[in-house]
Amino acid sequence: MAAIRLSWLISGCGFCVGFLSTFYLVSSVMKVREPHVGVASCKFKPVEIPTISRDNRVSEEISRKVRVLCWIMTAPANLQTKTIHVKYSWTRHCNITLFMSSVANESFPTIGLGTKEGRDELYWKTIRAFHYIHEHYFDQADWFLKADDDTYVVMDNLRLLLSDYTPEQPIYFGKRFKVFVDQGYMSGGAGYVLNKESLKRFVEGFRTGVCTHQSSVEDLELGKCMEKMGIKTTDSRDTKQRETFHPFTPDFHINGRFLEGDSYRQYCYYPHIEGPQCCSDLAISFHYVDPELMHTLEYFTYHLRPYGYQYRYQPPVPEILFKSNMPSEQRNVTPPSTSGSS
Ligand SMILES: *[C@@H]1O[C@H](CO)[C@@H](O)[C@H](O)[C@H]1NC(C)=O
Ligand SMILES: *[C@@H]1O[C@H](CO)[C@@H](O)[C@H](O)[C@H]1NC(C)=O
Repeated sequence: MAAIRLSWLISGCGFCVGFLSTFYLVSSVMKVREPHVGVASCKFKPVEIPTISRDNRVSEEISRKVRVLCWIMTAPANLQTKTIHVKYSWTRHCNITLFMSSVANESFPTIGLGTKEGRDELYWKTIRAFHYIHEHYFDQADWFLKADDDTYVVMDNLRLLLSDYTPEQPIYFGKRFKVFVDQGYMSGGAGYVLNKESLKRFVEGFRTGVCTHQSSVEDLELGKCMEKMGIKTTDSRDTKQRETFHPFTPDFHINGRFLEGDSYRQYCYYPHIEGPQCCSDLAISFHYVDPELMHTLEYFTYHLRPYGYQYRYQPPVPEILFKSNMPSEQRNVTPPSTSGSS
C-alpha cells in the first residue's frame, strides 16, 4: 500500500515538475514575443511630450509687436517645385506673405510684376516688388523681408533681432559683404530686411532719379541705392560675434565646404568663420535650401529638442520689452546695448 502511494507521489511530482517547466518554457517564449504581440493591445506607453514654457511670453510679446511682411522672389516655373514648400513652412510665421513673380497667378497666389523672367530681371523684380509693397502694404507692417524661394528663415529669431530697433531708423539688415560699396551691402540669397524708413527712401531714390537700374545684380544695386539714400548697413551678429544671416546651406557653413581661394571669404565684412562657431544659436537664415532640407530645418527648428536640456545661450531681453507691461522677473535683466549700426 505504502509502496503504491509512494510511486503515485513520485509520478505525481514528475508530472508537476514537467508541467511547471513546460509552462515556464512556453511563458518565457511568450515573453520574448510579447513586444510583437503587445503592440496590438497597446501595452507601450508613448513618451509624453512636455509643454514648453521657456520664455514663451517674451517671444509672444515680440511677435505681437514686430510686424514683418515677407516677400518671396519667385518665378512661374518654381511654384510647384520650390515655392509651395516655402509657402507651407517658414512663411507661415510671417505677418503677411507675398509671392512676387513675373506674372500673376490667382490660385497660388502670386503677384505679377510685369517683368520678364531670368537672372537679368532680378533687380527689376526687386524694384517693382518694393514699389508695389510701398503702395499697397506700407501701413500693414514695419519690416519688409526679401527672400528667395530657396531661403529658409527662422522668423522668431529675425523678430528678436529687429525688436531692438525702430522702423524709423535709417538702417537695413542682412549678411554683410564688404566689397564694391563703402559701407558694404547685404547679400541677396540670405535675405535682407528693410524697415519703413529704408523702404520709403528706396522708393524716393527712384522717384528723384538718385537710384536707377544700372545692372541686374540686385543685392549690390540695392546696396548702392541704400548708401546713396543714407541707409546704413548694420551688424546683425549675436553677442558672441556669430553670424545670423547665412548665404549658404547649414552644411556649407558648419562643415566648412568653401574652397581654397573662394572669393566668398573676401566678400565677408566680418571675419569668416567655418565650423560650429560659424552660426549663431539664434541663426536667422540659410540659402540654397532645397525642399527636402526646408522641411528638415522646419523640424529641427520647431520640433526637435533634447529632453531636459538647459539652454546655455541667453540673449539679453530686447529693449522693446522694457517699455512694456512684461512681468517684472523677465524685465529685470540688463538692457542690451544698441550695438550694430556703424
Ligand atoms: C504677427 O505674426 C505673429 C506670428 O504669426 C503673430 O503672433 C502676431 O500676433 C502678428 N502680429 C500682428 C500685429 O498681427
Ligand atoms: C498657377 O499656380 C498653380 C499652382 O498653385 C498651378 O497649378 C497653375 O498651373 C498656375 N497657373 C499658371 C497659369 O501658371
